Amino acid sequence: MLIGESVLLRPRVRDDVAVLYRLAASDPVLHQRTAIGPWVPRSLEHDLARYDAELAEPPDPLNVKFTVEARVAAGRVAHGDVVGEASVWGVNPHQRSGHVGLSLVAEARGLGLGTDIVRVLCDYGFRVRGLHRLSCETLASNGAMLHAAESAGFVREGQLRASWWTDDGWDDDILLGLLRDEWSPPVGPPSP
Ligand SMILES: CC(C)(COP(=O)(O)OP(=O)(O)OC[C@H]1O[C@@H](n2cnc3c(N)ncnc32)[C@H](O)[C@@H]1OP(=O)(O)O)[C@@H](O)C(=O)NCCC(=O)NCCS
Repeated sequence: MLIGESVLLRPRVRDDVAVLYRLAASDPVLHQRTAIGPWVPRSLEHDLARYDAELAEPPDPLNVKFTVEARVAAGRVAHGDVVGEASVWGVNPHQRSGHVGLSLVAEARGLGLGTDIVRVLCDYGFRVRGLHRLSCETLASNGAMLHAAESAGFVREGQLRASWWTDDGWDDDILLGLLRDEWSPPVGPPSP
């Protein structure tokens, strides 16, 4: 598992599926803003069946998924709650590059967890996996994600105009990147 100041990133277990279903499957507006494909209804049973099927396969090192647990109590979030998911995805072992992604349940947003998760994903990508470059893509209207990525050192590299269809019409996709040489590793181990 990976430990940040306020979050813990660990493998997904079956009990997480119902919590993450709220994020990934049952919210069409959020889906439209975070996933490239269209939202179509699917059941929790579908996600549980997919989880069970994936257990038969070895974990994919090119698309690494984590469950995020809170290490702090704040607002409606208790210490140990499953609060979201995070990933280092699209790893290209030849170019030594990958992408970071994350999503939190509504009650866990705005508490600083997202910024910490980005830092932990960078530590995984650069230190554990030896990657040279990480990318992050998000909407121009996603102020919290832009701020979280920029706080971790990502810089804006491009803007794809009117490239993303949302509930609110077309939005721009902002491309951010961080190179290993620009990254500031965490100082010392996080407090227990
Ligand atoms: C995007 C997301 C992961 C960010 O995580 P978070 O925990 O809510 O963000 P944080 O609390 O760490 O806030 C990040 C920073 O953005 C700032 N911020 C929040 N909303 C903002 C806004 N609308 N505009 C500008 N800055 C904003 C915060 O003040 C904070 O700044 P600070 O670090 O100086 O205090 C989270 O809100 C989320 O899961 N949203 C829904 C899913 C999603 O959009 N995922 C990303 C897909 S690319």
